Amino acid sequence: MEVFSTPDTQKYLSSNLKQSSSQRTWLAFSDSKLVGSITITDKGEECELRGFYVYVNLQRRGIGKKLLGYALDFAKAKNISLDLYAHNHKTINLYKKCGFEIDKQKDVFYRHWPEWPESLRAKCIYMKLEADKVRELLKKIRLNEAENIRK
Ligand SMILES: CC(C)(COP(=O)(O)OP(=O)(O)OC[C@H]1O[C@@H](n2cnc3c(N)ncnc32)[C@H](O)[C@@H]1OP(=O)(O)O)[C@@H](O)C(=O)NCCC(=O)NCCS
Repeated sequence: MEVFSTPDTQKYLSSNLKQSSSQRTWLAFSDSKLVGSITITDKGEECELRGFYVYVNLQRRGIGKKLLGYALDFAKAKNISLDLYAHNHKTINLYKKCGFEIDKQKDVFYRHWPEWPESLRAKCIYMKLEADKVRELLKKIRLNEAENIRK
């Protein structure tokens, strides 16, 4: 897609692909086509989740949850933090359903990508998942996966 081929988004996406002891990315493939991704970075105090996407035609089939399971397992005993556009209500609700809450201790900020018109800024917020909820959600995802295998 054109929107993913601008130099800035390419730079951002390739930075997600750098694997190290403090950063992991998982990619989902269907018929050898890339259909999903998730990146988690250990920032010391907490882990940062980003690059979480599933191809629109394959959403709501459990691919996101499977990817999230890997990221939660990596975060283990740390809080997970993420930022997203304040207008992305669908995903905010989805995260809330998973136990994330809006982090009011962190200020909102306004994102601007260089390819956007100069005056355009999009409001972003932070959400967090406390460490005990990370473990709880991971347990739920694993249980659900085991049930699906049994079916
Ligand atoms: C967020 C995203 C990666 C989730 O991927 P997905 O494959 O659709 O997720 P799953 O099918 O595993 O669903 C995960 C949970 O969210 C729920 N869910 C998914 N889409 C939903 C929607 N549109 N509305 C309400 N709930 C939704 C599912 O029901 C499931 O919950 P459940 O286990 O209780 O049933 C995907 O929606 C996406 O790519 N969104 C656009 C990009 C984006 O906003 N990324 C986040 C930026 S931080």
